Amino acid sequence: MEQIISNEQKTLDVLVLAAGLGTRMRSNLAKVLHKIDGRPLVNHVCRMATALAPRKIYVVIGHQGEDVKRAVLEELDESHSAFVWQKEQLGTGHAVNSAREFFENEDSTLLILSGDVPMIKFETLAALIQQHHAHRGRGAACTILTVKLDDPTGYGRIVRDEAGLFEKIVEQKDASDEERAVREINSGIYCFDTKKLFAALSSVENKNAQNEYYLTDVPSLLRSGGEPVSLFQHTDTREVSGVNDRVELADLERVLRRRTISRMMIDYGVTFIDPKNTYVSERASIGRDTVIYPNVHIEGETSIGDGCTIRSGTRITNSRIGRNVKILDNCVITDSEVSDNCTAGPFAHLRGKAKMEESAKVGNFVELKKTILGRGSKASHLTYLGDATIGERTNIGAGTVTCNFDGKRKHATTIGNNVKIGSDTMLVAPVKVGDNSVTGAGSVVTKDVPPDTLVAGVPAKIKKDFKEQEDKNNASETETA
Ligand code: UD1
Ligand code: MG
Repeated sequence: MEQIISNEQKTLDVLVLAAGLGTRMRSNLAKVLHKIDGRPLVNHVCRMATALAPRKIYVVIGHQGEDVKRAVLEELDESHSAFVWQKEQLGTGHAVNSAREFFENEDSTLLILSGDVPMIKFETLAALIQQHHAHRGRGAACTILTVKLDDPTGYGRIVRDEAGLFEKIVEQKDASDEERAVREINSGIYCFDTKKLFAALSSVENKNAQNEYYLTDVPSLLRSGGEPVSLFQHTDTREVSGVNDRVELADLERVLRRRTISRMMIDYGVTFIDPKNTYVSERASIGRDTVIYPNVHIEGETSIGDGCTIRSGTRITNSRIGRNVKILDNCVITDSEVSDNCTAGPFAHLRGKAKMEESAKVGNFVELKKTILGRGSKASHLTYLGDATIGERTNIGAGTVTCNFDGKRKHATTIGNNVKIGSDTMLVAPVKVGDNSVTGAGSVVTKDVPPDTLVAGVPAKIKKDFKEQEDKNNASETETA
């Protein structure tokens, strides 16, 4: 019992193998940098590893190592990660051996993950580690995560002895016909007693079909030395699928997407009209009774509130959408915010921290860049609003353009509350339009417009009697009411 407790308290480190090129991808890009769900394969693996709260995550890098490092550091914080260079890629055993200086004398548990096996779940890894520590009450020297596949082609096979216990792993290229018929495969995910792993690794040779130093030789070496090796046979085969070519990459993309969308339907009550043709990031969140039409892409860390409708052909990336929002067909929304009860589209484009405040509306062919469109304000047709701040209940007429760029620098446009910008107005920034003012159709506004003022013309000039006229109109409206 004491042994179990001390094993469970053993420090956990993680080593991710990510130095290979991945010849079968036929790519100039290192395999682990290929993406599913918009993120490199190795980032998916590192994210799961982080959830286990290990002491440190070590990543073995080689091919395009600097790029892999940069990608991984988007997922991991620098103080809990370390990078180990494997200059020449001589096999998975050689990759682990590159980290010898960090681990050789550590009394710890080492979880080894493959950078190309991205679907593994936290719960599965936690169960693997638990079995490793609890094995026969004293802990195992090595525990291998295995699965049975209908088609095991390409994977290392798990050969068991007559008693059904672990004997060895044989790689596809080294296997006899009889061994190739074995359906139980090595997932490439293992737990090791760190000290015992590095001791056995010294005896690994490269006398095999690929002339590589195989990590998969270590478990049988441990077994020969009388050390306990345990097998953790998992049932979900998709979790341990590796990516070795682009067909497998596309398959995993599809599996991950289905997993995400099913979770959203079952746990959150989201309606997908055609789940197979809808693309939703694992990191997105979507609220209850929101309806997502076919061919919608929801990417990155996007959140969408309850009761929204997102129509076909729309792409939303790293954005926040409030409740009861209608996004009509073919909109592109990036790094932006759409508040409750807004409507956008069809064919609207929001980018660069654009923000629509509550109940605002943008219509067809309207682009907002780094612009705040105030509560209840509207820009319904053919408009560009860049670097602008627009107040409440203001109407931006068709064809309005903020001329925010003077050829060298960007300038701001500020428009107040209850303003009516006439159709085809050019607002030459920097410029301000005060509350309750109006611009005539086709105006080119080059100077600030005070509140309660009508301007018109090219360049726009103040029309003197606007305020009296407005007051008269209001008075006669009150009389007739
Ligand atoms: C490996 C296993 C195989 C297992 C399969 C599961 C070995 C010898 N074989 O085969 O038993 O069924 O994974 O997916 O381990 N890597 C390095 N440096 C190297 C070589 C590889 O860092 O020198 C990295 C790769 O970048 C990759 C991982 O190790 O992330 C696995 O390498 P890969 O070549 O894909 O091994 P498999 O042939 O898939
Ligand atoms: Mg592989």
